[in-house]
Amino acid sequence: MKTISRHFFGDSEKTAFSISIVENMKEDYGLFVWPCSIVLAEYVWQHKLRFSGNNVVELGAGTCLPGLVAAKVGSNVTLTDDASRLEVLENMRGVCELNNLKCEVLGLTWGVWDASIFSLQPKIILGADVLYDARAFDALFATVTFLLQSNPGSVFITTYHNRSGHHLIEFLMVKWGLKCVKLLDGFSLLPSDKAARLSGNIQLAEIMLNHEQIEETSSSGAR
Ligand SMILES: C[S@@+](CC[C@H](N)C(=O)[O-])C[C@H]1O[C@@H](n2cnc3c(N)ncnc32)[C@H](O)[C@@H]1O
Repeated sequence: MKTISRHFFGDSEKTAFSISIVENMKEDYGLFVWPCSIVLAEYVWQHKLRFSGNNVVELGAGTCLPGLVAAKVGSNVTLTDDASRLEVLENMRGVCELNNLKCEVLGLTWGVWDASIFSLQPKIILGADVLYDARAFDALFATVTFLLQSNPGSVFITTYHNRSGHHLIEFLMVKWGLKCVKLLDGFSLLPSDKAARLSGNIQLAEIMLNHEQIEETSSSGAR
């Protein structure tokens, strides 16, 4: 069953804007607004000055609330999801139209190197609830690392459900030569009305290339 949800952004005094999302209540992975997406969208809103004017790519965007908020605050946004999930990509186009926002919509499957990925060069990469299947981590982080390398100083901001203890991010950072520069409890940044409607342990991580680690790896490889 299709439904439209509305998401409000602003301070306690006044709503600045709302975003409407078409959802499919089957809870299809890409057609439902996952709690991680609500946390990441709020983070984008609260850091809007950092987003304004920058190239932003959202990976595994699904119903794409964080990317739409980025577009609303002035980013040049490319919304992406698995290239084979045409229904999800079509829904993204519809949601952009519904909110009168101009974003690129692109099929981008993690670990697949189509020509389009080479010109993205994002300053900020977003990913809400993209760390849910360990079998996909290598492909996802291959894409994230490639995008981080394509634009020096860029950052990957992701929210994830911490279901299995707290070592996931540390493990992935070492494996991929990345470093986590910020780790927050997702609920700490939500206004109380939004926090009251969500549950779970959601964390937000900001991730960058760990240049020291990359140099170390390549020099030891040369010996
Ligand atoms: C749990 S959903 C999260 C959707 C949205 N970011 C949110 O938080 O509401 C995971 C998303 O990752 C996408 N995804 C899964 N595997 C993928 C892959 N290999 N390449 C690209 N996207 C993928 C799914 O289609 C889905 O939209």
